[in-house]
Amino acid sequence: MFTTVDWKDDAVVMLDQTLLPQRVVYRRLKSWQAVADAIRRLVVRGAPAIGVAGAMGVALGASRIRRKDPEGFKKELKKVVRGLARTRPTAVNLFWALERMEKMIDAHAGSKDELTERLLEEAIRIKDEDIEVCRRIGRHGARLVKKNYTILTHCNAGGLATAGYGTALGVIRRAHQDGKNIKVLVDETRPVLQGARLTMWELLKEGIPATLITDNMAGYMMQQGIVDCVIVGADRIAANGDVANKIGTYSVATLARAHRLPFYVAAPLSTIDINIPTGDAIPIEERSSKEVTHIKNIRVAPRGAEARNPAFDVTPARLVTAIITEKGVLRPPFRKAVKALFKGAQKR
Ligand code: MRU
Repeated sequence: MFTTVDWKDDAVVMLDQTLLPQRVVYRRLKSWQAVADAIRRLVVRGAPAIGVAGAMGVALGASRIRRKDPEGFKKELKKVVRGLARTRPTAVNLFWALERMEKMIDAHAGSKDELTERLLEEAIRIKDEDIEVCRRIGRHGARLVKKNYTILTHCNAGGLATAGYGTALGVIRRAHQDGKNIKVLVDETRPVLQGARLTMWELLKEGIPATLITDNMAGYMMQQGIVDCVIVGADRIAANGDVANKIGTYSVATLARAHRLPFYVAAPLSTIDINIPTGDAIPIEERSSKEVTHIKNIRVAPRGAEARNPAFDVTPARLVTAIITEKGVLRPPFRKAVKALFKGAQKR
């Protein structure tokens, strides 16, 4: 297997996803600023994975702060948390993980060294929990997958996007293990090609039958009767079930509805943002237009071409058949299902 992000010898270690599949290179990051930069540049990406990276960034920042007086130390730490929060706006898992770290900072009354240790323990806990949560998502989701299904997926919601097992790919992994003889159709996912580069890499490694298509082939495949269902991950789910995920997900969901195919979203509870009533309020990251005008630094559009690059879109809840979580499968109406799931949870 591989390690998406982890703590090793006083540093954060992550597999550089910008270089996959050509090169498998692990980066050793020794400052929180380097972690922030890695999140921004997609060295580590995928909602749960950037949550883990953010938490580890806080632990790393704590271990590098010189100030010993508790007040001054905490003040410096808050700057680290704010710095990491400024990296990518859409995936709520980052803010969820940073809030967990911040709660620990606020509640701590002991020494600087103790707090530093606690923060590292918490970051490692967030990582370990994610693996277990994804396994559960896999178990619940695999029940929706019938024998001989061909599943279309978009972007990468695999081990690379989480602490190691995956959400959408967790379901696919589990269905494959259960001997369901499934096949996967993988959208290449322009502009950054997470499907072609990362999902295909993971599926090939696991020996799960997979075929790569360009994004604009999905409709044709559905029309030909080749696709049985769609399973994708999510970056943020609003309280009403609207789903922000990689740009192009909305198009796939619309196509799935037009062809009467189930459209499943697999995501941990940490991706559900009960503070956001509908998808309209989800901040959508706009990345450099160079990701569109170029592919891997090779210009594909004429010099001077203007380009837009929203990294995510929002699929309205009405197009979602079910949301697969670690606590079970949510069905519409999602507002009610989400409310029941978060009963008693505090809003921000
Ligand atoms: O820009 P990315 O690569 O971070 O976007 C990732 C996605 O959109 C994933 O589908 C999502 O984070 C779910 S990962 C389990």
